[in-house]
Amino acid sequence: MDTVILDAFDEKQDREAIAAAAQVIRRGGLCAFPTETVYGLGADALNVDAVRKIFEAKGRPQDNPLIVHVSCLDEIPPLVEKFDSRAVALAKQFWPGPLTMILPRSERVPACVSAGLKTVAIRLPSNPIARALIRVSGRPIAAPSANLSGRPSPTTAQHVIADLSGRVDMILRSAPCTVGLESTVVSLIEEKPRLLRPGFITAEQLSAVCGPVEMDRAVFHSVAGDAVVHAPGMKYKHYAPHATVKIVKGDFDAYCRFVTEHAAPGVVAMCFDGEGKSLPIPFVEYGHEASPSEQAQQLFDVLHRVDELGAEVVYARCPSCKGVGLAVANRLFKAAGFEVIEL
Ligand code: TXA
Ligand code: MG
Repeated sequence: MDTVILDAFDEKQDREAIAAAAQVIRRGGLCAFPTETVYGLGADALNVDAVRKIFEAKGRPQDNPLIVHVSCLDEIPPLVEKFDSRAVALAKQFWPGPLTMILPRSERVPACVSAGLKTVAIRLPSNPIARALIRVSGRPIAAPSANLSGRPSPTTAQHVIADLSGRVDMILRSAPCTVGLESTVVSLIEEKPRLLRPGFITAEQLSAVCGPVEMDRAVFHSVAGDAVVHAPGMKYKHYAPHATVKIVKGDFDAYCRFVTEHAAPGVVAMCFDGEGKSLPIPFVEYGHEASPSEQAQQLFDVLHRVDELGAEVVYARCPSCKGVGLAVANRLFKAAGFEVIEL
């Protein structure tokens, strides 16, 4: 398949590109587009054939449900059975933005969108290109991250082009994503809200709006392939570069000694800004140690770059798990298959 690549950096100036992308969605095709978190691979959420194409293009397991994206609150009632007071409060505080809510699914949403679950994931993104695309297409858009299944999520148009060129109808080329990690996923199905995937909106921020939030076990544990889980996406190996990633926990001096002892061809250090110059091996840096937001923004790009360096083993400095750091650590732990070396 020939993939059309169009520039869409500005919602107004690139109106034609957005209109063309909306046409692709309306006709049941696949179009990758930017959001504030990561690039998404979109299709008409109400068109079963279009939704199936997403799974095919990504090589995504059929039991991993998709997020449905809307451009305003008015588009939500037909998609859900219930939008309770907690959902209203969270929407008011965090939408448009990097939050996804799991809600009871209405019959209008095809079961395959949610991999057969009785729930549906809804997100109202803040990226103006994403919202214009949804608005102009006049459809809710089902969109997973626009990467091949198992690979690091795409935070630049180049990442999307590398993974999906020839597999999708269109790619909207835009700026790098500002948040850099996928949305926070919170389930409102049970009495207590449950955090299924940490993100830029933290558990503490959610709790301040809708009371105590339960942390799903999958956030910090690997899950067996046949396990029944609340967050099906959490059981798959994720975000992995071709290299083996190992997380190294300890202070910078101990880390320095460790990588010096383990220096060999194909071994790459993944450290915080300013640290690489003190190390005897090739390195990539993923933001300042004290800035989880910087780490979030750069993590996936760095995981792409280690492959370009031809790394075989990557020793990654362990981020703090506080605030947004929890989301950074969650993605890095998954990339490393939850393997940590404690110094
Ligand atoms: O930031 C994001 O959320 C990006 C952009 C494109 O919006 N999308 C994204 O989609 O990350 P994806 O498919 O890569 O991740 C969706 C996650 C998966 O872990 C999936 O299992 C979970 O959301 N999910 C979707 N629907 C669900 C449901 N009904 N119940 C529980 N988990 C669900
Ligand atoms: Mg994904």
